Order: sequence, then structure tokens, then C-alpha cells
Amino acid sequence: MGTERPEERTSRRDLEWWRNAVVYEVYPRSFADGNGDGIGDLAGLRSRLPYLRDLRVDAVWITPWYSSPQADGGYDVADYRSIDPLFGDLAEAERLIAEAREHGIRTIVDIMPNHVSDRHPWFRAALAAGPGSAERERFWFREGRGPNGDDAPTDWESSFGGSTWTRTTNADGTPGQWYLHLFAPEQPDLNWQNDDVRREHEDVLRFWFDRGAAGVRIDSAGLPVKDPALPDMRGVSGYVPGTHPHLDRDELHDIYRAWRRVADAYDEPRVLVAEVWLAEADRFAAYLRPDEIHTAFNFDFMTAPWDADRLRRVIRETLDTHSAVGAPATWVLSNHDITRPVTRLGRANTAFSFDAKSFGTPTDETLGTRRARAAALLAAALPGVLYLYQGDELGLPEAELPREALTDPMHFRSGGVDPGRDGCRVPLPWTADGRAFGFSSAADDTTASGPHRVRHDTAAAPWLPQPDDWGGLSVAQQLREPHSMLLLHRDALRLRRSEPAFRDDAFRWLEAPSPSVLAFARGDDVICIVNFGTHDLALEQDADILLASAPIVGGVVPPDTTVWLRTACSTAFISTAPIGIPSDGAQPE
Ligand code: BGC
Repeated sequence: MGTERPEERTSRRDLEWWRNAVVYEVYPRSFADGNGDGIGDLAGLRSRLPYLRDLRVDAVWITPWYSSPQADGGYDVADYRSIDPLFGDLAEAERLIAEAREHGIRTIVDIMPNHVSDRHPWFRAALAAGPGSAERERFWFREGRGPNGDDAPTDWESSFGGSTWTRTTNADGTPGQWYLHLFAPEQPDLNWQNDDVRREHEDVLRFWFDRGAAGVRIDSAGLPVKDPALPDMRGVSGYVPGTHPHLDRDELHDIYRAWRRVADAYDEPRVLVAEVWLAEADRFAAYLRPDEIHTAFNFDFMTAPWDADRLRRVIRETLDTHSAVGAPATWVLSNHDITRPVTRLGRANTAFSFDAKSFGTPTDETLGTRRARAAALLAAALPGVLYLYQGDELGLPEAELPREALTDPMHFRSGGVDPGRDGCRVPLPWTADGRAFGFSSAADDTTASGPHRVRHDTAAAPWLPQPDDWGGLSVAQQLREPHSMLLLHRDALRLRRSEPAFRDDAFRWLEAPSPSVLAFARGDDVICIVNFGTHDLALEQDADILLASAPIVGGVVPPDTTVWLRTACSTAFISTAPIGIPSDGAQPE
């Protein structure tokens, strides 16, 4: 507005921090262990806040830290108002949120509206109260079908494999009603037609917002509402959008509008971030309308293969879809559910799909690392919010763990076929050597701070085993190597913050000399070029190289490389002359 004073503009920009933030995902179990029990915790995380500050992240999203039996890594919450003793306590969570903010880092917590733990007091009460009770109305209890009710009420399949229904046992030992769980049996689904469920979640939001949480990540945000008729899916090949029995139902939007009102009631409005997996772009964008959710994870980008055409299309569609509703795009390369980029991009099939995961897939980690570096700079150059999953800044590969070490219900419920998600959740290496590579001790490590230190020799083994060679990937080691993955990320995030071109949404595709090259401009003078091809790419003129994922020698961008350039001349920047410079290093004629 023309009448706005500069300080008002500044403050509005600050309130809209979430539009171009760098959000670092912390999986607390595996980030840093402050008490030496082999499991990451809040003390460990607090001691590593300086590391996150130096990386220049704007926010952390912390996956569930609440009291939980941990049947699904904490995504089975027994009590949202207390912290699991594995991680610390509520007072420490409050301290963490405040300390992080002192380092300029906001905190986003995780909320799971689809389900709770089977140990949640509501579910215990529902089991005890029996059929027809108000307590059971908060969940989906149904009689079984077939003789004696022995068949599940619907034919739905769980995302973790198997049926979505588990039968209860009555007090007298006879088989009872069934209850619905889209995930594991330990995660009973809530009934969002029930007012208690709505009220309770709004209270939980306020509980954490009052404690300084800057926002919430909404787990499985497309799933909570069910068709009360609970129809079978057998034989139905497609649905009129909004009518699927349990995905993306129209009624969800009212829930999130109510959440938005809760978030907007704070002086610094809180932020909603959704995990919605949806194929239809317009249905996805509907969640991001101005009175609903602020941002949502871009899974199209995350799952796309390493291919210029596909990524060009995904980026174009993402930007179009989001600008239609005025929401910022997000750029996500992985998370705690997904194969690590270094591994995924080093395989024959570089796309991600849960169905395609299998043990022993051949992987070229050198190639994967090269591409992961290029992908990191591509993602960081795009307009919107950047998500970074812990350990990706170190280039950790997906660990191939011994079967006996696996803990993920996805593995067990697949009958042992799916390796599950433990491989991307292995505790981080902080030091080049020492027990657990410094995961359970900050004692010898200049990157840590605070009083939460245990001695190497007394710390328990980490909850998942780390590969023997992970010392080379540790933070301490990478801080010593000028071209390490960690320092590449630090440089990228520093430039993202300092370069005016990255501050707004200005984005322009540039004509690329080959279909296997992506080129775009940010602002007036920054260009990002990604060479997906198998040949070197010649730059037309010497430009100021801001950052590159691999060495640029003589103006040549090698295969699987991203470069950020500064140049005022942003059109036709790349040579359209034959760019097929053989990658053996021969020079063009
Ligand atoms: C989370 C998973 C979790 C599932 C059930 C997801 O989308 O990211 O880690 O297993 O929701 O809560």
C-alpha cells in the first residue's frame, strides 16, 4: 500500500517469514543424544542449535516428541501435552523453543489429526466403555461382516500393508467390534464428525502456540475425514474428486479453516504446513487457499526422477498451481519417510515410490552424491520454502541395515519385503571417530555447546547402527573439507539469505541450449543452470560463479552439476553452439 511506512513493510515481511524460509526437519531420535542412552533427545538438540544457526536455517520442524509408545516413531501420540521421557520433558521443550528463537530459529511441531495411539486415554476409554458408547464415537468402531462378524467392515488396505481394521476382544474374552486404522493397529483413526475431536485438536494447537511454537506440520492431512457409510473400494476405479472414502474429502477444508482461525489469532500468526499426497494439482491447491493452510510439501518434486524434462514440468506446474492461490511453493528432496537423495539418485530408477523399495537395490553412491549436490542447489534456487531433512546436508546415504536392527512397522507389516524407513533415520555422525561418531557425546566436539555432555565410554550404542565409514561424513570432518556437502549447503543457504535476488518470487525460465539443461533467472542478476545431460555444457562468457555443485573449469559445466551465476545479461547466456563437449575434458574447437 502506498501509505505504508517502511517499518510496517519490514514487520509484515517478518510475519511472512514462512514464504521463503529454510526449514530443517529434525527427527529427534536420531539428531543428537544428550544423555548417552543411544537415543536422540531435546538436550542433544539444544546443544546443537549453534550448528543449525550456522547452517542458516530459519525454522526447525520437529517430528513428534510427545508421550508415545513409539509404535511408529512417535506418530502414535498418547498425550500431546507432555514430552516423551525418552526425549526430555515439557519444561525442556519450552526452553528449546525459546533458545532456538534466540538463535533466530522458529519451531514447528507435528500434529496427527488422523489418529492417536492405542494407548491414548480416549482409546482406552473407548475399549472399556464398549459398543454404542459416546467414547467409541470418537473413533471408527464397527461390527464385522460375515458369519459371526469375522470379516472386516471394509476392504480397505493400510498404507503399512494389511487390513485397516483390527478386531477387539470383549471383556468376557469373546471377539468384539472392529476399529479402523489407516496405518498400524496401534494408531486408531479418529472420527472427525465428533465434536470432542475437533475441540481437542484446536486446544492442542493453542497449547503449543502458547508455548511459542511458530507453526504445525499437519501429518497425513488429506486423510482424517471418512465417508461415514464406509463403502468398499473393490471394483471402483476412480472417484469424483472429494468423494473418495478416506482421501481428500471436501469436509476437510472446514477443519483447516477453523485451524487457520486459531493460528491467525496470535500477534505473530502461526503457520500451518500440510502433508498432503494428492495427484490432482487443483485439489492440492485448494488446501492452500488464503483462509486455509499456508504451505504444503511438494511431493511431486520430491518423487520426480532426475530428468530435466520431468523436473521442468514439475517446477512449472508447481509454480502455476501455487500462484493461482497466492501460496508459496515448497521444495523438498526428502524426509524421514523417503530414501535419502544420495542413494535414490544413484540408482537406475531415480524416481521415488514406496512400492518400489526393496533390499539390495544396486546403487552408485558417487553418482548419487554428485546428483544430490546438484539437486540441493536446484532446490535452494527455486522461489518459495526450502525443506532440508537432517543428514542430507551431510550427504548421508540410505543405510542398508541388518534385518535384525529394523524397527519400522512398514517393514514388518509388509511381511519383511519392504526395507521400511529405518535406513534414512540412522543417528547422525558428528565427529570423525569416537563412539557413535559423537552422536551420543558432545565432549570432544567444537560444534556442540551446552552442559549436556556425556563421556564416550559410557554412552549406549545408538538405537540404529551407524555404518562403519560414517566418520568420513561427520560434521567435524566436513567442516575441514572446503568442498564438502556440508559446506556446499552452508554456502547455498548463506547466499539464499544474502542475495536480494532470492528474497522475492521473481522467477524466469531461460532458454536452454539443450533439453537436458534447465536454466532460470532469479531477480535481475542471478541465474541457476542445471546440466542433467551426459555432456559438458559450455558457458558463453565468463560470469561470476556464485556457487557450483562441482568444479567449473574454463566455463564448462560438467554433467549432473548445478551452477549459480551472477550476471546482468540473463538471456541467451548459455552457448547455443554445439555443447557436446565430451566430458573427457576435451576443449571445444
Ligand atoms: C508420517 C509417517 C507416519 C505416518 C503415520 C506420515 O505421513 O510422515 O512417518 O508413519 O504419517 O502417522
